[in-house]
Amino acid sequence: MKKRIAVLASGRGSNFQAIIDAIGAGTIPATCVALITDNPTAYAIERAEKAGIPVKVIDFRSFPSREAYERALLAAMQEARADLYVLAGYMRILGNEVVRAFPGKMVNIHPALLPSFTGLHAQRQAILHGVKVAGCTVHFVDESLDCGPIILQKCVPVLDGDDEDTLADRILEQEHTAFPEAVRLFCEDRLEIAGRTVRVRK
Ligand code: GRF
Repeated sequence: MKKRIAVLASGRGSNFQAIIDAIGAGTIPATCVALITDNPTAYAIERAEKAGIPVKVIDFRSFPSREAYERALLAAMQEARADLYVLAGYMRILGNEVVRAFPGKMVNIHPALLPSFTGLHAQRQAILHGVKVAGCTVHFVDESLDCGPIILQKCVPVLDGDDEDTLADRILEQEHTAFPEAVRLFCEDRLEIAGRTVRVRK
């Protein structure tokens, strides 16, 4: 049975595109039922429209309070009735109520080898720290930021002369294979969460 997935994205949406493409190629057994964005000018919207995916804009600035925004976001997510919610560059921290509503049903990609360099500008943090290996992590979302059980990680070297942008490009290439792969495993019912560990069934 195909899974229903909903993607949350705030910006250019290249990870979203990688997932659209993997669904189109038949690699991920899923239908993308919604793009939910907080940014009315996100390029991800154009990608969704091209792929015939319904778009819901929940613009933080159009709500009187953070609570009202969170309620609208939760309602939009529930309305999507997704089996999996995919955070693909969603730049707002989700409130606990939203996270608690979808336990084990929400994944995020972070451009660092967690638990290093959580939060914003992970690639810049990696450069400033002088690490020799960097990468990306796909993980389940729980109530602490960038901290849920890890599904998979891919690493890249940090080369002499790298800056934040060259490193981000190298990591992004890996994101585009890591994220569709993790979503595929979820959609094939092959992920099992045991405490902090995610087991992948053969
Ligand atoms: C990616 O680097 C992702 O890891 C981070 O935000 C960026 C989103 O890029 N969470 P895109 O919008 O998918 O192109």
